[in-house]
Amino acid sequence: DTALPDFKVVEASPAAAQEAGEILRAGGLVAFPTETVYGLGADATNDKAVAAIFAIKERPTFNPLIVHVKDEIQAAKLAEFNDMAQKLAHAFWPGALTLVLKRKADGPLSLLATAGLDTVAVRVPSHPVALALLAEADVPVAAPSANKSGYVSPTLALHVLMQFKDRQGLNLIIDGSSCPVGVESTIIDVTGPVPVLLRPGGVAVEDIEAVVGPVQMPSAEPSSDGDIKAPGQLKSHYAPSIPLRINVEPKDRVKGESLITFGPDMPRRAAINLSKTGDLAEAAANLFIMLRALDMPGIRGIAVVPIPNTGLGRAINDRLNRASAPKDGETPGAPPKYHDP
Ligand code: TXA
Ligand code: MG
Repeated sequence: DTALPDFKVVEASPAAAQEAGEILRAGGLVAFPTETVYGLGADATNDKAVAAIFAIKERPTFNPLIVHVKDEIQAAKLAEFNDMAQKLAHAFWPGALTLVLKRKADGPLSLLATAGLDTVAVRVPSHPVALALLAEADVPVAAPSANKSGYVSPTLALHVLMQFKDRQGLNLIIDGSSCPVGVESTIIDVTGPVPVLLRPGGVAVEDIEAVVGPVQMPSAEPSSDGDIKAPGQLKSHYAPSIPLRINVEPKDRVKGESLITFGPDMPRRAAINLSKTGDLAEAAANLFIMLRALDMPGIRGIAVVPIPNTGLGRAINDRLNRASAPKDGETPGAPPKYHDP
């Protein structure tokens, strides 16, 4: 598109938000910080712009995107809100909760954004830079995490730069420093009689249950055949390019492996600690930065100690589980599918 400016990185500011809004309305792509991870945004009503997201992420087009809006009023133009949805939106928006809702049949969304489903995943982020961008754009913004499909999500503008080195198709990165939550939003499907957890994330399931009662947890292991409600739950995901082992006691670390620990009284040699005080929110905020930092030549693998499976620990364990799964068509220990130098 000739109206679109050449690629650049700018620091967050009101002027940057305004420029981002112009780029989005003109059909361009903008990477921006949210409280969870950096998103790669496009006008969710523009088929061509949405198609460009799938192309630069190398994302399968059957995997729908999250649509970001500035408030509940804008969300109500795209999707049907039942009681449960309303309660959850009131309690957690703006914030790290994505609701899967019935899509409005006559709504403006690109069918590609929702992968042709009759539902749509919607979220109002709380990050001030994201909110400023959404206010300026004045269109719903489809934004997956700003990484190549299958790799670790970015929590710094630098991570986005490293993922899209050729910058082809990317018009702007807004640098808003590190993402405070550090893991993606929690996704809850509220289209059925009971809320269903599709992805644990930045809002603890315990807090959601306090508002709407018991949440149905994913029953089986996520499969790699796409036969699942959230296609993004493909088993290998969030994966560094070197092997990762989970639930490893420090004494079982093998030579050449770097250890990720959690809590006090952990070994310090060849190890980095997600949170020395055992704070799961701090651990979540550090997780992707540490996985990326260790994903480099000379390190043969990553071993992670057991992490408590409560609160944000659920999101951490979910990402670690997927990161440790064999990648598509790979056996454990095989060469990496994605490499991020
Ligand atoms: O925190 C986040 O959610 C970040 C920031 C940028 O907002 N976004 C993010 O987007 O993680 P993405 O595309 O990486 O993950 C979106 C997930 C995918 O697993 C996708 O399958 C699922 O949401 N999803 C999207 N629409 C859906 C729908 N209608 N039904 C079920 N799952 C859906
Ligand atoms: Mg993602």
